[in-house]
Amino acid sequence: MNNKTVLVVGGAGYIGAHMVRGLLDAGYDVVVLDNFSRGHRDLVPAVPLVEGDLGDTLLLNEVFSRYPVDAVMHFAAYSLVAESVARPLEYYRNNVSSTIDLLEAMSRHRVRRFIFSSSAAVYGEPSVAGAMREDHPTCPTNPYGATKLAVERLLVDCAAAGILSFVSLRYFNAAGADASGELGERHDPETHLIPLALQVALGMRKRLQIFGTDYPTADGTCLRDYVHVTDLVQAHLLALESLLGGGDNAVYNLGNSKGYSVREVIEVAQHVSGRTIPTTPAERRAGDPAVLIAESEKIRQELGWRPRYEDLKTIIETAWLWHQREAGREGAAAGPPV
Ligand code: UFG
Repeated sequence: MNNKTVLVVGGAGYIGAHMVRGLLDAGYDVVVLDNFSRGHRDLVPAVPLVEGDLGDTLLLNEVFSRYPVDAVMHFAAYSLVAESVARPLEYYRNNVSSTIDLLEAMSRHRVRRFIFSSSAAVYGEPSVAGAMREDHPTCPTNPYGATKLAVERLLVDCAAAGILSFVSLRYFNAAGADASGELGERHDPETHLIPLALQVALGMRKRLQIFGTDYPTADGTCLRDYVHVTDLVQAHLLALESLLGGGDNAVYNLGNSKGYSVREVIEVAQHVSGRTIPTTPAERRAGDPAVLIAESEKIRQELGWRPRYEDLKTIIETAWLWHQREAGREGAAAGPPV
């Protein structure tokens, strides 16, 4: 026990639920706020759980009055690039306006430490070959990235006004699952490459589409930097310790500095699962940059972040364990086939 309480907004989502477990393991008290628009109730362990929206001022006042919150972690955002291109208003409303509501409530209740889930999507197309540092120009290619960048800027302005201190963590491609196999990546609908590939491996889908085979990369498919969800959690814990100890406001990339193409990911998924994953070429997906690779030296140097699951095979192995168990749970819930 360390007598500090963290409010995890969006604690029923993929990364939020892993964070709740990490905080509890580290001895923090945790309160979860989630509206279950995208999250799953069964991913939240036995901690105080408040169901509601960030736009509900009365509810936020109640949460901050009732619990002695020392810091807030904010995972509650829409995060699908293609969806954001089709529905920008919903993305700005949910990702920017709701964050303003949350920050206003924090300000009213003098809660001053904020850890923000930002994204590689703030950068847009890289203007350098290879990995991007935090000082790379930010020019999002989609509304999702623009909403994350808008909040990052808002945090800088709030910090300058003495309202709060913050750490913004720019995740590259979050992947994998808790080593216990009890928590994992479950979206509805699923749009992410690794879960979809593993669902094909499990026979839940017939084939995987490859969105774009004419990108300017070695095999024509997009390169992404996959970072394990447990390593993301460790980075948040370090950021939290830093803010609680009076550390500086900061923006950090979280990635492994290595890009894997869509075809390479599928190959590794086939190897790990021992199954064939049939694919079919498809049009490029709107808003997708060709290459996104992180230079994460800054958080390694400043906070001592040491990712444990840097290798894609290990990342996919943890995801495969979860997906197999999940398929078993779903099969059991559905009862015997008729
Ligand atoms: N892809 C396919 N077929 C699929 C699904 C994905 O080819 O069925 C490709 C995508 O086009 C992309 C790569 O696989 O090139 C990875 O796609 P994901 O959907 O798994 O992840 P994204 O890179 O689109 O998104 C992730 C995060 C976002 C974040 C983004 C940064 O989920 O929150 O990185 O651009 F914004």
